[in-house]
Amino acid sequence: MNLGILISGRGSNLEAILTAVAEHRLAAAPRVVVSNRRGALGLRHAAKYDVPTEVVPHADFARRESFDRAIVDVLRRHEVDTVALAGFDRLITRVLLEAFPGHVVNIHPALLPAFPGLHAQRQALDYGARVTGVTVHLVDEQMDHGPILAQAAVPVLDDDTEESLSSRILQQEHRIYPLALQRLADGGIHLEGRRVLGGVPST
Ligand code: GAR
Repeated sequence: MNLGILISGRGSNLEAILTAVAEHRLAAAPRVVVSNRRGALGLRHAAKYDVPTEVVPHADFARRESFDRAIVDVLRRHEVDTVALAGFDRLITRVLLEAFPGHVVNIHPALLPAFPGLHAQRQALDYGARVTGVTVHLVDEQMDHGPILAQAAVPVLDDDTEESLSSRILQQEHRIYPLALQRLADGGIHLEGRRVLGGVPST
């Protein structure tokens, strides 16, 4: 699996993926890390693991499609076959999805379809959910939407703040993202309607 990882910020999931590769828990070759923001902290993790980085500022493009075309060009140049979104804050278009059919993956800090979009942890607290969690899914054209590869549940505690809940969810994100990517790399999954069969057992 030749991985391209797309980030916008902190990059802790990127770090979890690169660590899993270094520790031979994920059989993948990280080919390039692409950020749409110049100052993204996560670019440091790529440097630490000697993975090439490229910055493609979305503000340079008038249309989402032309931005995605530029991203696809970068990914192709680095011979990527699977794209992992790791805190990437742009909505993906058909241009990217059709370049890597069935091989664009996203992680979201909630049990989808609950609480898509920004601030999923705050949404769960505000709603009064007793359980939330993390979802790794194949990407389609809607935001935080598509066939589910892996989920992990995280209980919401009475004294949780957005920070404390986010931090427990993040532990699960870092555990489950490499597992889900390994399942995809193994090729043992198949789609039956919306269902991914052979995904990661839920916890
Ligand atoms: C993660 O919590 C990820 O699940 C979330 O952004 C954060 C990025 O953190 N993604 C979404 O909310 C997608 N809708 P990171 O840069 O440290 O990996």
